[in-house]
Amino acid sequence: MSIQSEKIKALVERRAEARMGGGQKRIDAQHAKGKKTARERLALLLDEGSFEEFDMFVHHRCVNFGTDASHPDGDGVVCGQGTIDGRPVYVFAQDFTVSGGSLSKTMSEKICKVLDMAGRAGAPVIGLNDSGGARIQEGIDSLAGYGEIFERNILYSGVVPQISCIMGPCAGGAVYSPALTDFTIMVEGTSYMYLTGPAVVKSVTGETVTHDELGGAGVHASKSGVAHFAAASEDDAIAKIKALLSYIPQNNLAPAPVRPTSDPVGRLSDSLNDIIPDNPNKAYDMYGVIREIVDDGEFLEIHRDYARNIIVGFAHMGGKSVGIVANQPAMLAGVLDINASRKAARFVRFCDAFGIPLVTLVDVPGFLCGTQQEYGAIITNGAKLLYAYGEATVPKVTVTLRKSYGGAHIVMSSKYLRSDVNYAWPSAEIAVMGAKGAVEVLKGVTEEEYNELFCNPYQAAEKGYIEDVIEPRNTRFRVIRALAALEGKRQGLPDKKHDNLPL
Ligand code: HXC
Repeated sequence: MSIQSEKIKALVERRAEARMGGGQKRIDAQHAKGKKTARERLALLLDEGSFEEFDMFVHHRCVNFGTDASHPDGDGVVCGQGTIDGRPVYVFAQDFTVSGGSLSKTMSEKICKVLDMAGRAGAPVIGLNDSGGARIQEGIDSLAGYGEIFERNILYSGVVPQISCIMGPCAGGAVYSPALTDFTIMVEGTSYMYLTGPAVVKSVTGETVTHDELGGAGVHASKSGVAHFAAASEDDAIAKIKALLSYIPQNNLAPAPVRPTSDPVGRLSDSLNDIIPDNPNKAYDMYGVIREIVDDGEFLEIHRDYARNIIVGFAHMGGKSVGIVANQPAMLAGVLDINASRKAARFVRFCDAFGIPLVTLVDVPGFLCGTQQEYGAIITNGAKLLYAYGEATVPKVTVTLRKSYGGAHIVMSSKYLRSDVNYAWPSAEIAVMGAKGAVEVLKGVTEEEYNELFCNPYQAAEKGYIEDVIEPRNTRFRVIRALAALEGKRQGLPDKKHDNLPL
């Protein structure tokens, strides 16, 4: 064998060993927990044969507590670049078989390199997280490593889409990087996110709690809103990442992918003419409206189980990606509360940052009042949504279906917040408040008189606050036509260092 052949053989062997991460025993333990390894996950995520790995031979440099004895090639993360449906993406997958995926300084350097390369190339970053947090043996170095990752998450926020998938226990620093990214997907039953696990909670606060109760996918997808999606399995989580990518662009300067459809732009939806109940206090399901007006009835909902009084998500209309924000009259009458405001504000800001037009469907009785909401700062949180809509410069098209009262009317992409095209159905009630409240204040005025004068779309139409009153069945093509006319929209903001969003 020539010297060159021997060197090639040694390389092949070393690569094979590196691919074993923490070794067969730990790989088996990972499988026994119903989890895949980092490399198996990347193989599912990326187009076959597209993965280019970086830094496979990087070692950790820690010598504390005997850790110098074990220097697996690549340390606890697999990094590189590949394609998904032919589009370039940058990826890192933490390898739980190496020190529980805990973050060493060299792991941080690998992840930072991926983030920097994605930022330079203008391509999305996907992180598959499975980590015990800061590597305890490395002390301050591992904290510095987290800090350097966080800084890059922040710098590239709004430049390239960042998606985090949580595929195991993620504690400490391992949860803050996902929190800085655009979307977080958790796997039910095998993934957890918490600052510290149940054992530490017990010792600090005395509270007894399970992993699932403290930071499982269900908790974060429905109670805290930390997770945008709860996936039934790792395969489902990967499918959700791919679905998400199909609606969003490579970066803030690139257009979102177009999806050709055979669903006619001019398709009328007769069922919408009958969807609003005669009784104004009766609910109807906003999902029915969304599915009726978007291409092929397909809607990718974000935060499905969190603040269900508002619906946000992606769809295509006439082949183009849109962000839909809609009040849900079937849940708390579609009222805006703290969680709904935060949820929608975050979504509006993502769409605006990445040039995805906003379609807003309004049926909102107002903001939720009472001590619970006031003590939780509904004023500041409601202002987040107001701010998000007001600063958004992407094309904005709004349709008011029924109620649009008071402050909530202004917030929900009204004309006064530089919305481009605002339509209303004949059933719209665009008013300062509903009749019941108004007659309490205006003595001597009957509900009938108030309704006649104010609870309709024509006051707003007569003053030019909406562009037109439209037949519900025409909504799809009227919105698509408005969006087409707005494709070249250019709008700026006054010069500033950055805004001061009410946080
Ligand atoms: C070093 C770690 C580690 C860590 C796990 N390991 N976490 N090594 N630093 N943070 C190692 C274990 O020693 C073990 O090594 C292997 O990974 C697998 O861990 P197990 O405990 O056996 O696995 P499991 O039972 O599945 O439990 C996983 C876990 C638990 C829930 C993640 O390991 C755990 O609670 N780890 C500590 C979590 C934590 O408190 N992190 C916070 C760090 S502070 P061997 O060799 O035995 O296989 C932090 C601050 C940053 O992150 C703040 C920034 C804002």
